[in-house]
Amino acid sequence: MSELDDDLRVSACERCPALVESRTRIVDGVGPTDADLLFVGEGPGANEDERGEPFVGRSGDVLDEALRDAGLARADVRITNCVRCRPPDNRDPTGEELANCRGYLDAEIDRLAPDLIVTLGKVPSEHLLDRSVAITSEAGEVVDARIADASRRVLLSVHPAATLYDRSQREGFFEGIALAAEVAGVGDATKSGGDGQSRLGEF
Ligand code: URA
Repeated sequence: MSELDDDLRVSACERCPALVESRTRIVDGVGPTDADLLFVGEGPGANEDERGEPFVGRSGDVLDEALRDAGLARADVRITNCVRCRPPDNRDPTGEELANCRGYLDAEIDRLAPDLIVTLGKVPSEHLLDRSVAITSEAGEVVDARIADASRRVLLSVHPAATLYDRSQREGFFEGIALAAEVAGVGDATKSGGDGQSRLGEF
């Protein structure tokens, strides 16, 4: 992927005419390139397009809060999207756009080799698992999938925005992020009080 630099930043990609038209900037992933936990969203919205960083709007606030609850800071994890340019009118990315951006995502996954990938919502879940996903019922499940030429562990999650329009999704979303920290062995999951046991049972 010639447009991807050493920091996993994409420069000057023009593969998707509609997205080149609608974007202000390319929104690359953020966070350490050796993070244990990788969060994958769908694509930038208006706030992300304006600021050049994934999940910085209201959805990002929910994600940040859930990370904090799990004993993690945003800077501890890597956050990226299936497509790096904002689709017009916040529509879902097309299959062709997802395919055009896939090499960048696979390169990011390959470089990180994260302990766990968390898919935020239906679009990234279906994209990475390559099957249809009933996200509301499958959220919270950890599955193995072949991604970027290796077997990877994936935790399916609802999109954080779902918690904003349906308050009943909030608890499950927060539990999913806590489970992600436990599976990856990071955050509060590492503070076991010396007995090697997870603290998740306390919640
Ligand atoms: N929703 C996403 O899927 N990604 C973002 O970066 C922001 C909102």
